[in-house]
Amino acid sequence: MSSDLPSRNRPGSSTLGIHGGEAARQPGAPVVPPLVQSATFLWGKPSDGELLYSRYGNNPNQQALARKVAALEGTKAATVLASGMGATAMTLLALTTSGDHIVASKLLYGATQSLLGTELPRRGVETTFVEPDGGRTWRGALRPKTRVLFVETPTNPTLRIVDPRPLSELARERGIVLVMDATFASPVNLRPAELGVDVVIHSATKYLSGHSDLIAGVVAGPAELIAEVTRVSRLYGPAIDPHACWLLDRGIRTLDVRMGRHNENALELARWFEAQPLVERVFHPGLESHPDHALARELLSGFGGMLSLVLKGGGEAADRFTAALKLAVVAPSLGGVETLVSQPRYTSHAALSPAELAAQGIADGFVRISVGVENVEDLRADFAQALEALAA
Ligand SMILES: Cc1ncc(COP(=O)(O)O)c(C=O)c1O
Repeated sequence: MSSDLPSRNRPGSSTLGIHGGEAARQPGAPVVPPLVQSATFLWGKPSDGELLYSRYGNNPNQQALARKVAALEGTKAATVLASGMGATAMTLLALTTSGDHIVASKLLYGATQSLLGTELPRRGVETTFVEPDGGRTWRGALRPKTRVLFVETPTNPTLRIVDPRPLSELARERGIVLVMDATFASPVNLRPAELGVDVVIHSATKYLSGHSDLIAGVVAGPAELIAEVTRVSRLYGPAIDPHACWLLDRGIRTLDVRMGRHNENALELARWFEAQPLVERVFHPGLESHPDHALARELLSGFGGMLSLVLKGGGEAADRFTAALKLAVVAPSLGGVETLVSQPRYTSHAALSPAELAAQGIADGFVRISVGVENVEDLRADFAQALEALAA
């Protein structure tokens, strides 16, 4: 942020989303950062300074965005990569080596589960999955070679809230690293670093970008850890294209106002769904019926734009409900301005068996809704006519 701006302890998220990491202002400088769509940069000899190359993550768009993300998360450093999975994979490759061990929450995005459960073991890194709530289960799973605790909050798709504070104490005690995927919260609703999380990951494809038009991921944390993630990323190569970076920066400028509307719309619809006779259960951290409601009130500054339902009538009812929607779009992913509806058994958790789905609380008839920023009355009308179609 420009040094001319008045400083207080921490500027608000809306200010940081627009000005975070900004270079000092010079007369004639463009108000919007220019897109530097160049793979390489003039460089002839070591005295020319750092060698710039867009795979290295040091293109001006990549660097400015990394500074903005670090400002939003309140961490020393950050890096921006080509996808959320790229961010998770590079972080875990940076933190572990063959023979090491990870303890992870059982409640994770499906691809993260596969990365930890089947892919990393091929490289000699094993993971023990635990029930996420309570420090005791985590402590019991530790081994001498445990290097990382990995958790997601709110969880996909049951929206459980995991308290990082006892995990952070455990990580400090053992000299290991606590990593959190906070994609569902966004940096507006939750700032994990303030609660003791060492490394924060987001699929920036979701709320950070906010328009369902790009794929990206971010990793924020201490400078030396981010330097290691950057070193590994330069070798594996998941660099983000400058144009995607430019679009992501533009999306982040409105993150705070978008999150405000996502939070409002989702809470209102969650309360409405709870009163519908064809709905068996609603999952949303803002509802008193949610198992982590008290914790959500304590840790989050907004309950988020995600909600899930279990419809009476099981999978067949879920298929009929989604087929009847006219305004909400039936598609995977989340966090965009448009409302997206999906069934995790077909999408994010398609790799899980029926027993594994049930163990994660994904009952037959489960529907996940990423509530967008449309007029909430229009959304309610669409969901009401889809429920009527179900009753018919
Ligand atoms: C919680 C969470 N983390 C990570 C990812 C992966 O993100 P990307 O698709 O950007 O690789 C997703 C994707 O849905 C997600 O929901």
